[in-house]
Amino acid sequence: MTDRVVLAYSGGLDTSVAIGWIDEATGAEVIAVAVDVGQGGESLETIRQRALGCGAVEAYVADARDEFAEGYCLPALKANALYQGHYPLVSALSRPVIVKHLVAAARQFGASTVAHGCTGKGNDQVRFEVGIQTLGPDLTCIAPVRDLALTRDKAIEYAERNDLPIETTKKNPYSIDQNVWGRAVETGYLEDLWNAPTKDIYDYTATPEFPPAPDEVIISFREGVPVALDGVELSQLQIIQELNRRAGAQGVGRIDVVEDRLVGIKSREVYEAPGAMTLITAHKHLEDITVEREQARFKATAGQRWTELVYDGQWFSPLKRSLDAFIDDTQRYVSGDIRVVLHGGVAQVTGRRSDTSLYDFNLATYDIGDTFDQSQAKGFIELWGMSAKVASSRDQRIAGS
Ligand code: ARG
Repeated sequence: MTDRVVLAYSGGLDTSVAIGWIDEATGAEVIAVAVDVGQGGESLETIRQRALGCGAVEAYVADARDEFAEGYCLPALKANALYQGHYPLVSALSRPVIVKHLVAAARQFGASTVAHGCTGKGNDQVRFEVGIQTLGPDLTCIAPVRDLALTRDKAIEYAERNDLPIETTKKNPYSIDQNVWGRAVETGYLEDLWNAPTKDIYDYTATPEFPPAPDEVIISFREGVPVALDGVELSQLQIIQELNRRAGAQGVGRIDVVEDRLVGIKSREVYEAPGAMTLITAHKHLEDITVEREQARFKATAGQRWTELVYDGQWFSPLKRSLDAFIDDTQRYVSGDIRVVLHGGVAQVTGRRSDTSLYDFNLATYDIGDTFDQSQAKGFIELWGMSAKVASSRDQRIAGS
């Protein structure tokens, strides 16, 4: 039987050309796999037809939008995942769900090899291959753009020579990856760190300088899961989509950073994640009133480690799984409503309420009703500072001798 290769197919120029390239380089039949993670654009059926038109023997398409929202975006929200304090892991989250479908397709169509269209300089190659190795240890990975040195010029030349059903004239200087959790834009003039992003690179967000009237939204959570907007119960996918629309209209969630890639390169990245940033802000504020202090402090550290693991392509690792269990446990009382005003690029929390809140008015108030015995603070401070005080007097004694 002819060998078969499953290819992660986007419908774009590189992966369209890769179909023929893989066939020529390896003699294998290509099965194109397209996964919908809410990236928008063309329909899966259009992409399927193009894959077949470019020479794929089969095309497997999967609508993974709900699966992605519930199984990947939601854990990131529970972790308040922001890599280096900024980046909500947009691309890093989609790779593992795509990997799952690649491996499923490899099983279904009897393929021995999985191919992806990443270059050799980024994180995504690592995420794909580590994921595939983990879920399908018997599978081999190839990366035509990297391993067969498929450059853009060569891809255009190949597509034209073979009359492939793909546009080759559209010249986009950026490398873009997008899904329902956000959008990543790299390269082009952004490689000069001093260049400010121009308007044309944004798609999920409107310019925050000229916002429409403020938009107030109430986000309801149940055990860390967003379940309703303005009292209307929605699926997680719908909540993210709706907040992308509403927060995007206010220019919320634009991020311009230089980030540390796993491969050791620092790179300029521009992201747009209006829904994700609004949800993370609201979720964090609800945790602030419902999670006990020591648990919250430790969770911040655990969440950061979780984020680094996911960024570094370790979605399927044992440590990530253990941290998921810890993070899930912290969410037991994270239920309630957060009111957010979206305006001019900012998602500002203006109110919170929860039946499981730890906020005690009678302890916090400076007005009538105060139940806090302030005289007890004096002794507490004495003991709390004791250890440092003893050490300090030792230091002064030695410095003076
Ligand atoms: N730097 C981000 C990450 O590593 C985004 C990568 C997006 N990929 C792309 N081809 N533009 O997760």
